[in-house]
Amino acid sequence: MKNVGFIGWRGMVGSVLMQRMIEERDFDAIRPVFFSTSQHGEPAPTFTGQQGTLQDAYDIDALKALDIIITCQGGDYTNEIYPKLRASGWQGYWIDAASSLRMNEDSVIILDPVNHDVIHDALNKGIKTFAGGNCTVSLMLMSLGGLFANNLVDWVSVATYQAASGGGARHMRELLSQMGMLHNSVAKELQNPASAILDIERKVTELSRSGTLPIDNFGVPLAGSLIPWIDKALDNGQSKEEWKGQAETNKILATKEIIPVDGLCVRVGALRCHSQAFTIKLKQDVSLPEIEQMLASHNDWVKVVPNDRELSMRELTPAAVTGTLSTPVGRLRKLNMGPQYLSAFTVGDQLLWGAAEPLRRMLKFVL
Ligand code: HSE
Repeated sequence: MKNVGFIGWRGMVGSVLMQRMIEERDFDAIRPVFFSTSQHGEPAPTFTGQQGTLQDAYDIDALKALDIIITCQGGDYTNEIYPKLRASGWQGYWIDAASSLRMNEDSVIILDPVNHDVIHDALNKGIKTFAGGNCTVSLMLMSLGGLFANNLVDWVSVATYQAASGGGARHMRELLSQMGMLHNSVAKELQNPASAILDIERKVTELSRSGTLPIDNFGVPLAGSLIPWIDKALDNGQSKEEWKGQAETNKILATKEIIPVDGLCVRVGALRCHSQAFTIKLKQDVSLPEIEQMLASHNDWVKVVPNDRELSMRELTPAAVTGTLSTPVGRLRKLNMGPQYLSAFTVGDQLLWGAAEPLRRMLKFVL
């Protein structure tokens, strides 16, 4: 059995990964070694029924003893440890949730239902470094994969509705705290159906602008609002999150000609599902039933939701999709711009297909 090291298994993405690996009995096929950046020497988790000790995540010799490393520790850890480990001559597989190595020439972005062939070509060529993709990109490709696989996409314009979890655990707490404070400020008035809604709104808006809501993580209130910027600013006016759309999509698909993907990335008050609204220019006019068939047959997790009001409200929402591996796509229709212009709306859990799931599936390919 291969020795597989886990770093960052206790964080949010790491915890979802552990949960999925337990559900799928992935630990049965490996000898896991758990690492810590701060608590080495303490008892390791007993997911496998065996008791061990946490190893030091900065100990290059301990890492060198592994066949495979899976890290959800984040980009700073990768930037510090990965070069040292490779420089030491380590030849193992590095599987990473962080973005640090994604665009390196000798790494592949993993999303096997979409780029199984790219991954297996890379393995045959001796590539040993694999990174999970940006969550919006992975979730788009899980839902719209059928259009790309049929070479139908001329370009994609996207507006995202990204959940708080994309920022991290502290962001989720902050959003919920803001929600609670806003509600508390008008809880009494809400109980009285005769109270004036504009008075209630004014109180909420005043509190939101008062500077008293917790904003250490988001920088501004998100509850009852939205934030039309995610990640750093680039020189060309894009946010880094928006830049990733085209860069990572084309790398995942190993396209010969770049497919333009661009749009606006927006943080909304959802907890862990990212939604995205697309305008897609098709290379040719294909009928909607054909499009639906291509989308639905692309992988086991995509689900086409008919463009129906009730079904869209019930099945195409973060509330419906959270905690599941389903990546539904709906609101499919031809736009007024012409028969080659398609709209689509997708929803997906950004901690599952958006982060943890591609990692555990990659592990299976290198055992
Ligand atoms: N950058 C994403 C977000 C998270 O902020 O929502 C995961 O790729």
